[in-house]
Amino acid sequence: MTELIWDGKYKDGKKQGPVRIALPFQTIETVNESAQDRRRNLELFASGRSTEWRNRLIWGDKKYVLPSLLAELAGKIDLIYIDPPFDTGADFSFTATIPEADSEGIEFTKQPSLLEQKAYRDTWGVDPEDRQRGVTSTDRYIKWFYETAIILRELLAENGTLYVHCNQTMLPFLRGALDDLFGLEKPHERRDLALREQTEVQLSKLLPRDWECVLVYARSIGNQTFHHQLVPVKEVQQQAVVAWDPIAKKRIAKRDESGDIIYETRTEKLMGSVWTIPIVHPIAHERTGYDTQKPEPLLEGILKVSSNEGDLVLDCFVGSGTTAAVAEKLGRRWIACDIGRFAIHTARKRLLGIRGLKPFVVQNLGKYERQAWQVAEFPSNGKNYLEEQHQREAAYRRFILDLYRATPIAGHAWLHGTKGGRMVHVAAVDAPVTQADVKAIARETWKAIGTGKGGGGEKKEGSFAGAQDDKARKAEGSFAGAQDDRGMKAAVDILGWEFALEVNELAKNVAAESRVDVSFKKIPREVLEKKAVEQGDVRFFELGALSVDAKAKGRELTLKVTDFVIPTDDIPEEARKAIKHRSQLIDYWAVDWDFKDDTFHNQWQAYRTRKEPKIELETKYEYKEGGKYQVVVKVIDILGNDTTKTVEVVVG
Ligand SMILES: C[S@@+](CC[C@H](N)C(=O)[O-])C[C@H]1O[C@@H](n2cnc3c(N)ncnc32)[C@H](O)[C@@H]1O
Repeated sequence: MTELIWDGKYKDGKKQGPVRIALPFQTIETVNESAQDRRRNLELFASGRSTEWRNRLIWGDKKYVLPSLLAELAGKIDLIYIDPPFDTGADFSFTATIPEADSEGIEFTKQPSLLEQKAYRDTWGVDPEDRQRGVTSTDRYIKWFYETAIILRELLAENGTLYVHCNQTMLPFLRGALDDLFGLEKPHERRDLALREQTEVQLSKLLPRDWECVLVYARSIGNQTFHHQLVPVKEVQQQAVVAWDPIAKKRIAKRDESGDIIYETRTEKLMGSVWTIPIVHPIAHERTGYDTQKPEPLLEGILKVSSNEGDLVLDCFVGSGTTAAVAEKLGRRWIACDIGRFAIHTARKRLLGIRGLKPFVVQNLGKYERQAWQVAEFPSNGKNYLEEQHQREAAYRRFILDLYRATPIAGHAWLHGTKGGRMVHVAAVDAPVTQADVKAIARETWKAIGTGKGGGGEKKEGSFAGAQDDKARKAEGSFAGAQDDRGMKAAVDILGWEFALEVNELAKNVAAESRVDVSFKKIPREVLEKKAVEQGDVRFFELGALSVDAKAKGRELTLKVTDFVIPTDDIPEEARKAIKHRSQLIDYWAVDWDFKDDTFHNQWQAYRTRKEPKIELETKYEYKEGGKYQVVVKVIDILGNDTTKTVEVVVG
């Protein structure tokens, strides 16, 4: 038997499989869902009946997302198309734009984030020892791909088909891995799709790379959904009408009563398996900034051939959202996943541009992914669960402090380290930093400074005499000057994964009331892989700050984004020069007019497109009933990061 072997395929004679942790999905946003739809779904859910289907855009690593889909959807997906990453440069970097700069926008390439680099290393990375053994990045890639394909196959319905977009270099390996998985029965019934690119051929000593392949695998050959497609012929032709002759046992030309061959005008023919599709032109409106964006006609063809209306389509490397957009337009249900934040943002924007868009949800695995990571990365040997958890959390905090280049300290409930004269708090993996947390952290910071337990040794008599005393504290002056003789300031950095809405606002109050300077830093998702951080310089960005002005007149509310501040370190110097006003950093903003402390329901949104690069910063809304409402505004910047702001309004 012919078999493709790669390093790690077998262990102790057994074929190795993928990680199979199933984590629960969290809905972080609903898009285009009316209040009635939401109510109906809640009622269905409460009465134990199945809720209405929602298409899903999932932000996460396929390593966790795919196994998490299995419990619900094994054997239920009708069509899977994947266009996996092949080369880090093109697959993970994207072109972002500073809009409204001069006449056109200024474009720059956003390099892959650490998380994306990690995904790349997971896929291609080889340890030096393994390299010595002769292991290559192709071994690693095939192992990664094979693990993906195993789960995709389990997700496929009995009549389902898997399409794998593949470049010429990887073609033999992917074919080998897929043949291994799907078996080689009925090889004569296997057909692939050749994609001819309509590009100018360049003068070169090599044959041009002007075709790609899409490998096609049916879960069960012969049972797959298949619809022949007709395409227009280049030139209208007169063609003899043929029919099967049972006597001659062959197809022969039909004749009329006088024996003349009957001709018909031929304007269409059956679609073959070599498709010539124009690439998405670099300046076309549908270009999303994704170098690897695939043309919609390709997906249209695939979906029409191998699925029916209402069928479920999956793409776990959706990039700019091509598969989801085409599925939406053709009335298929869809699940689309990507690890990149910018990909999710690009796909969401693209979908919003589709007329008649059905409601969909944006999901991730949130804290569950981080919990799984904590357990996997920080093993412990405690006597019981509590002790184990304690050890794990301590190891996790040391790890984050190390990345933040802070010094660990002990003896506090809320403070875990110091850096540059500031205290540092590291939030837990599974809970957002709440307003109550901020108050407790600020209180302990002030106490620590006052009692000299701030980490730099004992405080001398007399300094910060007013630490516990409000009046004396005020007499000390502002927090900026509140510094003990060990150089510790009444200041704290709070490092967290998620922050409750409005903590930024609260920090201002805390600073004014308790004179502790509080600053919030996001722990980048990139740190989820220990190995990834060994090479990169992990940056903890400040939370963005958004200012919104809300004015009510009767039941009408006018909302205006008045300011937006984010760190611009990720934007190259040259491009940064083109930023004349901060609103240029806003790519998209959305509003939930009646936020109920649950999911963000996107009820209105404005965004820039290539065609319409300007964005309105003001909007109005008419409430049906007067009363008090929480309005949440979500801004997504030009790099795909989001910042939210809540305002309480009274209307009517
Ligand atoms: C070649 S691009 C797909 C482009 C897409 N077909 C389109 O039309 O825009 C590959 C995508 O896979 C994503 N990706 C890479 N590794 C991933 C992983 N482990 N899990 C999920 N997505 C991943 C990348 O972020 C990238 O967007």
